[in-house]
Amino acid sequence: MKLPSLKIRNLESRFPVIQAGMGVRIGNAVLSASTIRLGGYGTIASVGLGDIEKSKTDFVNESNRVLDEEIKKARQLAGGRKPLGVNIMVALSNYKEMVEQSVKSGIDFIISGAGLPIPLPEYVGSADVAIIPVISSGRALSVLLSAWKRKYNRGPDAVIVEGPFNGGHLGFTPEQIEHPETCSLEIIFKDVKQVMNGMGYGNIPVLAAEMVSSREDIERALAIGYDGVQVGTHFIASEEAGLDRKSKEVYVKAKRKDVVVIKSPVGLPVRVLKTPLVERVLSGSREKFSCPYRCLRTCNPGKVPFCIAKALLATWKGDVENGLYMAGCNVEGINEIYPLENFFKSLEN
Ligand SMILES: Cc1cc2nc3c(=O)[nH]c(=O)nc-3n(C[C@H](O)[C@H](O)[C@H](O)COP(=O)(O)O)c2cc1C
Repeated sequence: MKLPSLKIRNLESRFPVIQAGMGVRIGNAVLSASTIRLGGYGTIASVGLGDIEKSKTDFVNESNRVLDEEIKKARQLAGGRKPLGVNIMVALSNYKEMVEQSVKSGIDFIISGAGLPIPLPEYVGSADVAIIPVISSGRALSVLLSAWKRKYNRGPDAVIVEGPFNGGHLGFTPEQIEHPETCSLEIIFKDVKQVMNGMGYGNIPVLAAEMVSSREDIERALAIGYDGVQVGTHFIASEEAGLDRKSKEVYVKAKRKDVVVIKSPVGLPVRVLKTPLVERVLSGSREKFSCPYRCLRTCNPGKVPFCIAKALLATWKGDVENGLYMAGCNVEGINEIYPLENFFKSLEN
């Protein structure tokens, strides 16, 4: 079967693949531009890009400055080609500023999850930017789209559905995570389609984000009815991903049994690898840290056992002892550090 292209708003890619915007600095200019060149949608993760010292005194402006730089760099590396997007989590304390900066920097699409992105259409305004919410249930989508319709008369340009096995933050209760069969991608798809059809968005693409490591996985998602996929975990070990090689090797070595779900300072469950930091947290200890710049609206720095910004930066640097390694249940499918081209080559024909 020849894989279809993916059309979102006025954008199009050869393959039905969105590269997930993975923070901190994994989904950077290099990974996103390479994805675009190879035939997918490239996404920059907006979280944690700024210089730490400068962020301590001017978090908002420093974050905007570096995001603009990263977008320009990605455009240049992609030879000006589209579709280039940004992932902006609703939980960020500078959410509004990040959206406005992305629009100003000329981004093509914005993906937004880790909470319901209710004010996103307002912050994007009349700009020609595709808006793509990330949800994990038909109910959440219904609440979001009703609010968008009522307040802004705006619909989504695509919708991403994260399933219960995906990497990173999870929009599910602990009970649902225990019983993933109750909230499978098949079940959520039916609910989501019902909501979309009911609201007149039947032709808008719906993408699956969970455990895609191969062409077969994409075909499985298409067979359910999805229009494409978002790939996270599998791209972490690509040569192009932004993190240090020592950290990529952690993913290469990881087995399914190393994947656990813990409570994140973001306020949601998060799926990660059981590395030394996670072992310490699970045993009840609290890391020493002072909150440098209140990056999350939803975090209580006086209560949480570790600083997620610091831990994700440690991963980026290759500090295995102190890093937080977010990963999906397909991590065992990563066998080596590989050129991204290998993945996209397997999608041809
Ligand atoms: C290391 C890592 C970092 C991530 N960072 C973000 C992020 O910054 N914002 C976000 O909305 N989702 C983030 N995610 C979730 C991904 O966007 C994506 O939906 C998910 O990885 C798809 O599932 P998969 O990992 O099984 O492919 C992250 C996931 C991983 C594994």
